[in-house]
Amino acid sequence: MAEKGKVCVTGAGGYVASWVVKLLLSKGYIVHGTVREPSDEKYSHLKKLEKASENLKLFKADLLEYNTLCSAIAGCDGVFHVASPVPPTTVVPNPEVELMEPAVKGTLNVLKACTEAKVKRVVVVSSGYAVMRNPRWPKGKVKDETCWSDKEYCRTTENWYCLSKTEAETEALEYAKKSGLDVVRVCPTLVLGPILQSTINASSLVLIKLLKEGYESLENKHRMIVDARDVAEALLLAYEQPEAEGRYICTAHMIKMQDLVENLRSIYPYYNYPKNFTEGEETENLSSEKLQRLGWNYRPLEETLVDSIKSYKEAGILD
Ligand SMILES: NC(=O)c1ccc[n+]([C@@H]2O[C@H](COP(=O)([O-])OP(=O)(O)OC[C@H]3O[C@@H](n4cnc5c(N)ncnc54)[C@H](OP(=O)(O)O)[C@@H]3O)[C@@H](O)[C@H]2O)c1
Repeated sequence: MAEKGKVCVTGAGGYVASWVVKLLLSKGYIVHGTVREPSDEKYSHLKKLEKASENLKLFKADLLEYNTLCSAIAGCDGVFHVASPVPPTTVVPNPEVELMEPAVKGTLNVLKACTEAKVKRVVVVSSGYAVMRNPRWPKGKVKDETCWSDKEYCRTTENWYCLSKTEAETEALEYAKKSGLDVVRVCPTLVLGPILQSTINASSLVLIKLLKEGYESLENKHRMIVDARDVAEALLLAYEQPEAEGRYICTAHMIKMQDLVENLRSIYPYYNYPKNFTEGEETENLSSEKLQRLGWNYRPLEETLVDSIKSYKEAGILD
């Protein structure tokens, strides 16, 4: 296969990023992956990916250390900025330091390093949470790329992760406008699907807890789910398609928690599922029409669930 050029993936050892690295290697790219501690065992899965020994190089870099990012990005045609803290719970003792700084300042550091290295295109991973928390959006209207989460609303409801992603994406948009750097932003909703890494990331924990926790009662809210492998494909499309621009919502299936549990129970009757459900909040209906027009497609939900559970078992996380 012809070589596709050199690209950098930030936070390469994370859940979503590992799938991005795997996809890029399979397509013939040379990949520079940034990790915070290259010798850490938690990145060992990356070295086992097909073509990793020839085409993957890991760089020690922190989002808050500009020079470390410059070394990883130098010589790259493109960058996938995936790294950003994703807390496992909504309780974040010091949101400014734990979330806001690495998300916002980290994104700006990456973008500045891209300008310096004359990168042709940057794909920034934002989030459905940068889209959906907007109390002024007309009730019942499907949310598209023109909808932005309200930062004041995120602040007053102490939704710090949502605030960090909204602020980071806003800054990325502003930076692109000012500098002329080609930045495409992709906003995935809840990402599930098999894990490549050996540790549990925050979104996989949502599914693992549904199977193991035995909640007395759970809110029957809507969740919007997308498979990590389909997110990786979306990011590649956003990078490779010349016409890609602006923002893309990346979501596949909208399902109520209770229906999700019933789907799981029909395949795996023996897990410790929630016992009761309470009435859920208003629908979070987001549309990925724009991404589909770019050529994106997604797999059925059942495949995502079955492959996720298989991978948790293989990792020894689930019996
Ligand atoms: N999973 C979802 O449901 C979901 C949905 C929408 C958007 N996203 C976005 O997708 C991206 C990846 O998330 P994920 O689910 O794959 O989570 P993850 O597995 O926790 O990955 C987060 C990555 O960010 C890196 N990171 C955090 N702070 C850093 C810092 N200061 N310097 C360098 N790297 C840092 C982590 O590096 P270490 O390995 O060193 O800790 C890790 O690789 C994030 O931007 C997230 O907001 C995720």
